[in-house]
Parts: sequence; structure tokens; C-alpha cells
Amino acid sequence: MKFSTASPVFFIFSLVTAAAANAVPVLALPWGEDGEGKRKGDYGYGGCDGGGTRSPTRRADDSADISASLIELHKNLCEIPSVAPNELAVGDWLATYLESRSFTVEKQEVARNRNNIFAYLGNESQTRTLVTSHIDVVPPYINYTYHSNGTITGRGTNDAKGCVAAQIKAVEALLAEGLIGEGDVAMLFVVAEETDGAGMIKANDLGLTWESVIFGEPTELKLSLGHKGVLRFNIQAFGKAAHSGYPQLGINANDHLVEALYILSKIQFPGSDLLGDSTLNYGVMGGGTAANIISPYANASVAIRLAADPLLVKNLVNEIVRGRSITLTWFERFYGPQYLDHDVEGFETEAQAYGTDIPNLKGNHKRYLYGPGSIFTAHSDAEFVTVTDLIESVEGYKALIMHTLS
Ligand SMILES: *[C@@H]1O[C@H](CO)[C@@H](O)[C@H](O)[C@H]1NC(C)=O
Ligand SMILES: *[C@@H]1O[C@H](CO)[C@@H](O)[C@H](O)[C@H]1NC(C)=O
Ligand SMILES: *[C@@H]1O[C@H](CO)[C@@H](O)[C@H](O)[C@H]1NC(C)=O
Ligand SMILES: *[C@@H]1O[C@H](CO)[C@@H](O)[C@H](O)[C@H]1NC(C)=O
Repeated sequence: MKFSTASPVFFIFSLVTAAAANAVPVLALPWGEDGEGKRKGDYGYGGCDGGGTRSPTRRADDSADISASLIELHKNLCEIPSVAPNELAVGDWLATYLESRSFTVEKQEVARNRNNIFAYLGNESQTRTLVTSHIDVVPPYINYTYHSNGTITGRGTNDAKGCVAAQIKAVEALLAEGLIGEGDVAMLFVVAEETDGAGMIKANDLGLTWESVIFGEPTELKLSLGHKGVLRFNIQAFGKAAHSGYPQLGINANDHLVEALYILSKIQFPGSDLLGDSTLNYGVMGGGTAANIISPYANASVAIRLAADPLLVKNLVNEIVRGRSITLTWFERFYGPQYLDHDVEGFETEAQAYGTDIPNLKGNHKRYLYGPGSIFTAHSDAEFVTVTDLIESVEGYKALIMHTLS
């Protein structure tokens, strides 16, 4: 999930977190401690053998082991920092893991040292269903910690390595149960979701098509009805510097910018019943050089979360600022509201206000969005997922996959 202005809470990263950002994850780190002396084996899911080791394990997944191997896979993924653009190590580890589970694995180079990981059964890369999520995370790195109350904190635990681990375990389980085979399901784990979507955009070059694609992002185990689109622009205002004692000699760029932003912030944009209002946020603004100088230049950066047709909204903005002494520069990349498939029984449903990689993957496939964890802590220093949600999401992904193959 990227670029979430929808979250009601913006967290200021604490000093503790800043310190953690500099900490190098240690290969010998045992199961995360929560200060209560809880260690490997104390968490109630049986003897994970993951303590300290990064090597993918081969184990027979009887059902009692699935939870343990899920937690272990999730831990391994989270303990390898992968703040975009540094996804190489986690991708390499994941590729080795998937190969150890007898999947065929391809690394798709997106940029130097940035690979998507694509995996499937046997020789058949063209499958009916694709499950996909992302392996990059937002900064800073935050330690993985397993708490005795059943929560797991740390960067990526929720967005989106919880999804990655659960998706893989779902496919492994269906395979073990003999419910899927070659040509049914492929898995794609992309880079750069949190930045510019370059990983998913590159996936279009795989030359494959799917009947259904199941995207993983934190939805609190609800099946998504859809999410808002995004439209962005910068505003520039040009003035003329002068001594502030003689304002009549200058042109105040700050005035022009502030007036334009005020008007824009009061627009009631069109919305939709499903996704609610389209909302505008001027997240960055700046202008001027000193208090005693009439400002010669000002600018701002604006994002609109779209619940309506992008062109309609764009025209409305252009119309409203027409004739003002400002220049608008629209970002070339934008997308409209995404209405997703949700024709599966047994799930609660909900619409999201955040953006995803979904519009970056071209094709006529059915599109599902589902995952463990809450968007309200993703990107924050309190990011977490609960063990029960992680385990339940494996069942959710299994149900979604089977639905797409039915
Ligand atoms: C994070 O882990 C590193 C390595 O084990 C450790 O040195 C550091 O103290 C941890 N930071 C926090 C905030 O737990
Ligand atoms: C599939 O790949 C295996 C090697 O992994 C090869 O032995 C086999 O001939 C291939 N089958 C087909 C139908 O291409
Ligand atoms: C679980 O424990 C952690 C660490 O003590 C704490 O921060 C968190 O709030 C607890 N979560 C719940 C749901 O109790
Ligand atoms: C605004 O202007 C400043 C100063 O020239 C510049 O550093 C910044 O990149 C500009 N931001 C936008 C959004 O145009």
C-alpha cells in the first residue's frame, strides 16, 4: 500500500525508531524478544526451527506445522530489510526459499539489483490465477519482534510481508492437499510498490495473461470492493522580489499560491456511493526567501484521492484556477477509482482509500484485493500484524484461489 493520505494518523518516527533504522539486522538474532523473556518456541505454535537461520527449510507440512512454518517464513522475510530500492537481498532469499519448495522461479530484472520474483509449478508459467504482493517496504527499517500477546511488530510485518507469507503458505497448502497443479497458480512478488510501481509495471513484460489476479495488501481480512484513484499536480507561482517596506514595487507569489490553494481546498469534488468523496490534500508548500522580502516564488504539491472520473476532476481544477497567476503541472501518471471483484462468499467487504499496484497490471483479469493487518498501522512505527490474522489469511487466500479456479 502506498501513499496513504487516507490514514487518520500520521506518525512522527520516534527516536527509538530512528535508532532502529541504523541497526543492522543480525543473522544470529533468535526469535524476537518482547522484553518478557519470550523466545523461540514460547509462542504456542510448536517448534519452529527458524531461530537464527536464514536458510530456507524443507519440512513436511502436516497441518500442525503450517502455522509454525508460516510464522517462520514471515519472520525471515521481515528480518531482511527491503526499503525500496534495496530489495535485492529479500528477493534472493525468497527465490531460494521458493526453489526449496520445488517451485520454478524466475527473477525478472526491473532495474539494476532490483528483481521481481515470479514462481510457478513445473514448466507452466502461464496459469489461470496469479497471486501477487510486494517485497519492498517504506523506511525506516524496524526490528521484527514477536510479542507474547500474539502480535508481531516491525517493518513489513503488515505491509506487505504478511500477505507475501500467507499467499505462499496458501499455495503450498493447496498443493499439498492436491487441489492445485501445474498451470493453475503462479506467484509474483514485486519491487517498488511503495515508490513508483516500477516492479508491477515491468510485470506486464512477462507476456502473460490471467483469468484472475489476487492482490495482497492489508485489508483487515476483508475482501476489497475497490479503492480510490490518484491524481497529482504541482502549483508554481511567480512574483517579483522587492523590499517588504515597498510592496507596491513587487509581486507577491505567496499571495497567489495561498489564494489558489484556498479556493482548491473548498471545492466539493464529485465522488461515488461506493468510495465516498474525492479529497484534495496540499501536502507540501513553500515560498519566499525572507520575511522582509516580497516573495518572488512559491510552490506546492497536491494530491487528489479520486472517487470519480479523473478527467472530470482535472477539468474542474483547471477551470477553477483559470486566469489566476499560477502554473499547474499535472503528473503524467494517474489512475481512476478501481472497482474490484468481490463475488466470493464468506468474506466481509470494504472499500479502501489507499492506492495499490492494481492499476499497474494491464489485462482483463478479475481483480481481488485481500490481506491481513490494518492500513492504519502500515507505514507507521507501530506497524504490526496479529498471529491469528496471519493464520486466518492463509485460509482466506486458499478460498480466493479455489474460487478463481472453480
Ligand atoms: C534491533 O535489533 C538490533 C540487532 O539485534 C539491536 O541491536 C537493536 O537494539 C534493536 N532495536 C530495537 C529498537 O529493538
Ligand atoms: C518440464 O521440465 C522438465 C525439467 O524441469 C523436463 O524434464 C520436462 O521435459 C519438461 N516438460 C515439458 C512438457 O516441457
Ligand atoms: C502486545 O504487546 C505489545 C508489546 O508489549 C504491545 O505494544 C501491544 O499493544 C500489545 N497488543 C495487544 C493487542 O495487546
Ligand atoms: C518548490 O520550490 C523549491 C525551491 O525552488 C524546490 O526545491 C522544490 O522542488 C519545489 N517543489 C515543487 C513541488 O515544485
